[in-house]
Amino acid sequence: MTEQALKKLLESMTLEEKAGQLVQCNAGQFIANQLEITGPDGEMLPSEELNRVMGSVLTFEDAKQAKALQDKHLAADPHKIPLLLMLDVIHGLRTTYPIPLAMGCSFDDDLVYECADMARRESSVCGVHVTFNPMVDTARDPRWGRILETNSEEPLLNGRMGAALVRATQGDDLGKPENVACCVKHYAAYGAGEAGRDYNTVDVSERMLRETYLPAYKACLDAGARLIMPSFNALNGVPSVANKYLMNDILRGEWGFEGVVISDYDAVGELVSHGVAADLKDAARLAMEAGCDIDMVKNAYYLHLANLVREGTVSEEAVDAAVMRVLRLKNELGLFENPYHGADEQAEKEVYLCEKHREIARRAAEETAVLLKNEGILPFRREVKHVALIGPFAEETRLNGFWSRPGAERYTVTIPEGIRNLLPEAELIIERGCGAEFEDTDRSGIDRAVQAAAGADAVILALGEPENDSGEGRSRAELDLPGPQAELARRVIEANGNTAIILFNGRPLVLTELVSFAPAVLEMWYPGTEAGNAVARLLWGEANPCGKLSAGLPRSVGQCPNPYNRMNTGRPKPEPDSRAFPFTSCYLDTPNLPLYSFGFGLSYTTFAYEKLSLDRTQMTKDGEIRVTVTVRNTGAAAGKETVQLYLRDPVASVVRPVQQLIDYRKVFLKPGERAEVVFTVSEMQLRFFDMNGREMSEPGEFRISTGYADHLLLTERFELTK
Ligand code: NOJ
Repeated sequence: MTEQALKKLLESMTLEEKAGQLVQCNAGQFIANQLEITGPDGEMLPSEELNRVMGSVLTFEDAKQAKALQDKHLAADPHKIPLLLMLDVIHGLRTTYPIPLAMGCSFDDDLVYECADMARRESSVCGVHVTFNPMVDTARDPRWGRILETNSEEPLLNGRMGAALVRATQGDDLGKPENVACCVKHYAAYGAGEAGRDYNTVDVSERMLRETYLPAYKACLDAGARLIMPSFNALNGVPSVANKYLMNDILRGEWGFEGVVISDYDAVGELVSHGVAADLKDAARLAMEAGCDIDMVKNAYYLHLANLVREGTVSEEAVDAAVMRVLRLKNELGLFENPYHGADEQAEKEVYLCEKHREIARRAAEETAVLLKNEGILPFRREVKHVALIGPFAEETRLNGFWSRPGAERYTVTIPEGIRNLLPEAELIIERGCGAEFEDTDRSGIDRAVQAAAGADAVILALGEPENDSGEGRSRAELDLPGPQAELARRVIEANGNTAIILFNGRPLVLTELVSFAPAVLEMWYPGTEAGNAVARLLWGEANPCGKLSAGLPRSVGQCPNPYNRMNTGRPKPEPDSRAFPFTSCYLDTPNLPLYSFGFGLSYTTFAYEKLSLDRTQMTKDGEIRVTVTVRNTGAAAGKETVQLYLRDPVASVVRPVQQLIDYRKVFLKPGERAEVVFTVSEMQLRFFDMNGREMSEPGEFRISTGYADHLLLTERFELTK
């Protein structure tokens, strides 16, 4: 349709019909087999009238349902305006790949692209028009259960991966049925909730907002994401969905965003609970005034928007502008011509969980695992066949993460299956040992587990957090392994030192005690559908771990949040990894540094950083510096290394971080092989926000380092000239 035709369509609509375009209902309310939904259920019940006017639905199951929803609506809508169908496809639809926090550990934007491309194929045939993805809430507090949904505590890494996901999902033309539109979320700073509690209030300075939290959303919008979702939280006193500064000034003003803003689930209604709206009607007014186009699930817009316009409280122009944005998106997706978009029952059978997708998911699970400790235990030799597989996750199928689609566990390759696929002749003894729920106290299985361990060639201890303990509404105050798992681990390792721990969890855990006695620890996160195959291949050395932590692992909960790019202080502790140092910024009872810092991860080989060199030591404002890092594989196995580049600005007009990642590159090296990795650094990367909130760079000295956070290996200096 032309823009003119869309405008004509708008003019032909009643106020109620316009408001309807701005309403999103839960498909579960229309379809008998109610689907799992998050947040409090809306009170809104589907009525014939609502079905006639509504503009979009979220959460449905498959192509058949997608078509049925569309048919039902189109039969009732006199204007024949198709529905937008939206779904949370976060890390895969049927073929689940690792959780985003794990994907961050790959430091590989191409891998993110490849995985998102696979998710796009599965989503499009399912009938998805919009996915509520990428989630790029930079998160620095592992108490927050939603840290699993983001790529990293690191803004640059987070934004780059989000942008890769947008490019893969949206493709070059949204009108093609195989492409899906992206909704970036949750704008803004949702990850900074006080005390790590979900939905909690956020208070951050303007500089913190702009340097740490906004860049990742911006990167995704720059990559072309068509929608954005304001966050549940209040930011500096104003809930995001009613936050004119965020939405009008920054988003639409500074960034020139012309796409659709959709509230989070019931977030418009929650303006009443926040205490900034007197009632639902007031909430509708506030959200509309702030530029929120679609009201997800709550009936605020449906019940009140038309009246607010009639009363003259809300301008019809604002409503028209919002409706036009929605209509334009539908038009761009080609829905007026093809309301089913890519929905195709036959293609679903061919695409879901196909060999090609499983291969991608397996590779991703391998590339995102982080080897935290290895005292010569791993990889197991091929002769190691008599294996005790112990722990509450030994036979678990729920290894997909909170945001995997319902039923994902039906397709998980379990660890025993993975081991048998790789080593058909392996003799496995499986013992659960204990449970992993908070309330689990039963230790009666530990003795049997210890016995099994004692007689085995090697032991695999599968520990972690139950899948539902991280994710939305899953904040934790303690970050250890729930239940008696630590005790199980201690006793098993006493019985057999040839033990490798594999961990399944959705957040950085406190592993301080565990790693003090465990000889080998491999962090698997929630690896997804191909979990078991990836685990077996990693443990027996068919795959070499190469993940680097996308968020540091705290030494204790009391350190949280403890971002790697923390600000300098006036009393820095000279040795941050030591205990107390009088009258410096430190703890009496624990070092400042995390147990494992951002960017850390071992391999079955070793790498030496031989040289860091700059092609010049002075940079002009429009010039660049070429930085070359020489790295060599000094071990006996082929492997991948992530070369990380850090910046430090030692003297500036405002306090700067002690280290800041400005680039990264992953290289594959055979034993003995050497690579020269070249980065280009420009003035843009030296910028920060000054005292007046102006983005700028300051002439003077800068330091460039490689290594990983808190363990910078080689450093060179250069000067930015006036
Ligand atoms: C609430 C979550 O915060 C958001 O991320 C998600 O997209 C919506 N529910 C829809 O399921």
